[in-house]
Amino acid sequence: MTPPAVRCTGVRQVFGDTVAVDGIDLEVEPGEVFGLLGPNGAGKTTTIRMITTLLPAPPGAIEVLGLDVATRRTSVRRLLGYVPQLLSADATLTGRENVALFARLFDVPRRQRAAQVDAVLTAVDLLDVADRLVKTYSGGMVRRLELAQALVSAPRVLVLDEPTVGLDPVARDGVWDRIHEIRVATGMTVLVTTHAMQEADEHCDRVALMHRGRIQALGTPAELKSAIGPDATLDDVFRYYTGNTLTESEKGAMRDVRAARRTAGRLG
Ligand SMILES: Nc1ncnc2c1ncn2[C@@H]1O[C@H](COP(=O)(O)OP(=O)(O)O)[C@@H](O)[C@H]1O
Ligand SMILES: [Mg+2]
Repeated sequence: MTPPAVRCTGVRQVFGDTVAVDGIDLEVEPGEVFGLLGPNGAGKTTTIRMITTLLPAPPGAIEVLGLDVATRRTSVRRLLGYVPQLLSADATLTGRENVALFARLFDVPRRQRAAQVDAVLTAVDLLDVADRLVKTYSGGMVRRLELAQALVSAPRVLVLDEPTVGLDPVARDGVWDRIHEIRVATGMTVLVTTHAMQEADEHCDRVALMHRGRIQALGTPAELKSAIGPDATLDDVFRYYTGNTLTESEKGAMRDVRAARRTAGRLG
């Protein structure tokens, strides 16, 4: 049996008085696009940093493709590609130099490096501008370059933290189109965080909604929406579970819609 791409069991992380992650259980299936959603401060980045071995996790809490991140750190890193929340490309180098740096860093064999760098630059549609300095790139191009950096070691699991934040809709679609193409070609699993609900709805097979360090809801976007009400959007789901921007009375109304729907379900 294939192990889950990522398995979290009771994952916790505390910084001083702040409980950033408060007991998370989830499984990401191989090959799916899984979205970790939630408002700022929900604990998404902290969870991602534990999964990618950048923050310590206790033994048994997190597995990547069956390997415990606490005890198999180096092996886990070889399986992962990571696009961090903060921009990581060097503006004073060319696109090609940036990707080549990651190829060396991630032990892509020397003889395969040039071909592999060109292959990922082609995959993110940057080959024709590969020899330009990154400081001349647009925001969308920089994000696609970072995608290429993460992909150059041919990861089995790609982890992206807010990959489209600050991008215009066209650039955002450009990033997602590349992700889907590469995923279809390689069978790679994608774990992505975002607070853009429409994007999650469009691109994720399943999502987990995080709030205050906990998972409040988990399922396909369709499941989460239909649990709230007949015409609910994922934005409504977000507001329902996080209380963001909705008043208490609106939340009460939403709860009523949900209860009514459940009753209708039982009767129908
Ligand atoms: N290194 C850190 N030291 C102290 N507090 C932190 C650190 N990293 C995150 N936090 C706190 O943990 C909580 C979750 O943060 P984070 O995981 O970045 O959330 P998100 O990515 O969902 O916005 C926040 O309250 C944040 O201030
Ligand atoms: Mg974050």
